[in-house]
This record gives sequence, C-alpha cells and structure tokens, in this order.
Amino acid sequence: MPGSPPEPCVLVIHGGRGDLARRKLLPALASLANQGRWNEGSLILGLSRDVSHDDGRFRLLVAQALADAGVASPGPAWESRCFYQPMPDDSEARYDGLAARIRSLEQDFALPGNRVFYLALPPDAFPEAIQGLGEAGLSRGPGWTRLVIEKPFGRDLDSAVELNGLVHRSFDESQVYRIDHYLGKETVQNLLVFRFANALFEPLWNRDRIQSVQITVAETLGIEGRAGYYDRAGVLRDMVQNHLTQLLALTAMEVPGAFTADDIRQEKAKALRSIAPLRREDVVLGQYAASAQDGKELPGYLQEPGIPAGSATPTFAALRLRVSNWRWHGVPFYLRSGKRLPKKVSQIVISFRCPPVSIFQPFDTCAIHPNVLVMTIQPDEGFDLHFEVKSPGAGVAIQSQALHFRYSEAFKPLPDAYETLLMDVLKGDQTLFVHADEAEAAWRLYTPLLSMDLPVRPYPCGTWGPRESAEWLAEEPGGWFTS
Ligand code: BG6
Repeated sequence: MPGSPPEPCVLVIHGGRGDLARRKLLPALASLANQGRWNEGSLILGLSRDVSHDDGRFRLLVAQALADAGVASPGPAWESRCFYQPMPDDSEARYDGLAARIRSLEQDFALPGNRVFYLALPPDAFPEAIQGLGEAGLSRGPGWTRLVIEKPFGRDLDSAVELNGLVHRSFDESQVYRIDHYLGKETVQNLLVFRFANALFEPLWNRDRIQSVQITVAETLGIEGRAGYYDRAGVLRDMVQNHLTQLLALTAMEVPGAFTADDIRQEKAKALRSIAPLRREDVVLGQYAASAQDGKELPGYLQEPGIPAGSATPTFAALRLRVSNWRWHGVPFYLRSGKRLPKKVSQIVISFRCPPVSIFQPFDTCAIHPNVLVMTIQPDEGFDLHFEVKSPGAGVAIQSQALHFRYSEAFKPLPDAYETLLMDVLKGDQTLFVHADEAEAAWRLYTPLLSMDLPVRPYPCGTWGPRESAEWLAEEPGGWFTS
C-alpha cells in the first residue's frame, strides 16, 4: 500500500559521499522511487568537503552505490535530479553558499521550498553543521524544514543536553528527527501492535505474571574497520544507550493515550525515567580476545587495525535494570549486547512466572519450565510462545513446546529500516524518532557507568561474553535464553 507520495522537497545529505549515504540512504531513496513512494519532483543534494567533486561525479557515485546495494536505478530522470555541493572546511561562506544553491535549485525546478537536512556525519561534526544551518537561516524556509540526526546523539548526558540546546536554538523539536534505525525495523514497530492491539497479553504484562525480561542484541561481526569511531564509543554508546534502550522502552512503557508521536514518545521517556540508578554489580563488561571461531583464527579487539594498545573499550555489556514503577517493581530486565558472539540475533524474551505449586512435583521428569514468549526482532523475525505439554506415553512427563509465528511465512520481505524512516521524515511523522527527552533520559541512566572504572573482561570470539554474565543469571530459571 504505497499511498500517495510525499510532497516534493530538496533532500540534503551532509556526508553525501560517506559510508552511510552509499550503503543505506541512497539505495533506500532509490528503492522508494522504484515503489512510487518518492515525489518525482524532489531533488537530492549531496554535500562533502571535496571541492574536486561535482554533480557528474556524484551521479556516478550514486549509480555505484545502487549497484553495490543491488537496487535498480529509478531511471535517468531520477538520476538527473541528484546534485552535489562542496562544503570546504576553509570557506566561512560555505553555509551561505549552500543556502544560495538550494534557493537556485528550488527556483529552477519550481519547488515549494520544503527541505530535509540529513546529518549523515561523524558525531563530532554535528554541532558545526547544526550551527552552520542555523546561522545561514536554513532552519526555516519557504516550506517545511526537517533536520535528521544520526546516532549517537551525544557521548554522555552533558553533551546530549548541550547538543539539544544547540539544536533548539535554531530548530523547534517538531522539526527534529533523531534516528535510531532499530525503530525503523518492522518487528520493533510491531511491539506496539502486539502489546496494544491484542487483549490477551496486556493483563499478563506486569510483575504479577512476569518473572524477568531479557533483551539480547548479539552480533557475530567485529568492529569492521571502524576503529576510530568504535574505540571512542564502545558497546554502551554504540548499542546499549540507543538500540537496546529503545527495545526496553517499548517493552516496559505504559499504554499511550493514542497512537501519536507525542503520546508514544512521552510514555517511552516516562518508562526510562522510572529505571533505578545502575550499580556496579548490575553491569558486566567484556572485550573480545583473539581466538578461533568456526575453525577460523580471529583477531581480538586489541589486534584490530587502528585500536590503541591496551584499549579498555568494552565490546560486550550485560546489564541488570530495575524498572521501579507499579507495573514492573521487582521484575529484573536483563540486557546484553556484544560483538563476536556466537550468532546474530536480536530478541526480547519474556519469562512468565511458574505455577506457584507444582502438583507434578514428585516426578523428577516433571520439572516445570516457565512459559516464555520470545519476540525475535531479527533474523527469522517472529514470535515463539513456549508452554508445557505432557509427553505422550505412560506416566506424566512434561516437555516444553512452542507455538510459532514467522513474518517470512505470512508476509512479503520486510522493508529496509531506512526506507521506513526516510518515508516518515518525508511525510512528517515523528513517531519512530527519538525525542530530546528520551535521549536525555537514556543518557541519565548510563552516564554514571562511563566513569565507574568497571573491569572489562576478555572473552573468546564465538562465546556469549565473559562467564560472569552467565553466573549472574544463575538465579533465573533457565539463565540467558538462547534460541
Ligand atoms: C549500529 C552500530 O548502530 O548498529 C553497529 O553502530 C552495529 O556497531 C549495528 O553493528 C547493528 O545493526 P543491525 O541492524 O545490523 O542489528
């Protein structure tokens, strides 16, 4: 259901020749055009420092990016609407030059003056770009103006508050789209539908019925040549403060008054604000060490090119959070994420309480497992509800079985997260973007950890992190759930 295409605009990509633009944004924009979901009157304007680049070379780069991503070009008309503007560091007038270029393109193509500024830049470059846009008068235009900011939004609470202050000096919050690409994933959005369009689960979704919640986002890859960025970020800034916290907020939030961006984002921020401060004993950090995985010798984090000797940046974190509100008091939320783990999987696992008394107790074949709801965000997107059944045959033996639902069996392939998010920016829907309050609430939670001098324990590639994170879950029936 493509719906009507969005209004025409100039979509300006800061970092137009960068990795994110080439791998994600340009293919997603072309794919939207192929589906008839892009306004044919719109233009793409790529920016970078390189003065030797021009419209022609940018179009070649766009064609290559589409070929690499396996996305068909929407055709010559679309390609001819891709432009390039150099933004040399040494030119004080570069934002005025950008403003003039945008105005002239809008005039040439009779556009109404709607603009998107997408900051696909390294985080250190955000302040300069936001300030430059503001000072050149580009935060307000003849039509609507929207600012898209990639993650990470700040490095800690102070820098996030400062960045929000800078943004709000020129842009209203209603113009700001802070990206967390996990929110663009269909299965993440479906958490809201699953929880609030089904009457079955809501009465169970609380401390009376739920024993614990586990959220795992595991990756098999290492840092993939991103040493410069990753060594300053680490897993807490790269994954936990954003992707895992978004999954946590959607799982823990109260029912919003309506399905609107304001209502949903307020409830998420409220849930995050009710999490108790993290203590040392609630955190296990790790760093992958050189070892063999699937018969292949893999370098440890410290051997990755560009990582400073002796770096203590964590590539794995497990955390235990206490959501101190009426719904969740006493229910531990366990979060874990890491690189070079045994499989790529993102899952939310809800363990329900066991029956208070087991009438099957005398038989040792009758150990009862908790009912478990597994929501798999990726890959193999879907749900599994594990429950107990009697094994056929004489006597009573109990076994866990599962009801399954798989997206791939019910629907066409799921759209890419960036297509969804770009479409929402173009249509002006902020539901799937992080509000200033949410970003700050998340940093308020994790910032104290950043200065706690916690041990970072080595773990071999292909394992589930330091063994301390498993010991720590020994008190939960079944430990960490691993499908
Ligand atoms: C990014 C992180 O935000 O998310 C990467 O910077 C990580 O380090 C990636 O690999 C994971 O995203 P996905 O969609 O592959 O789970």
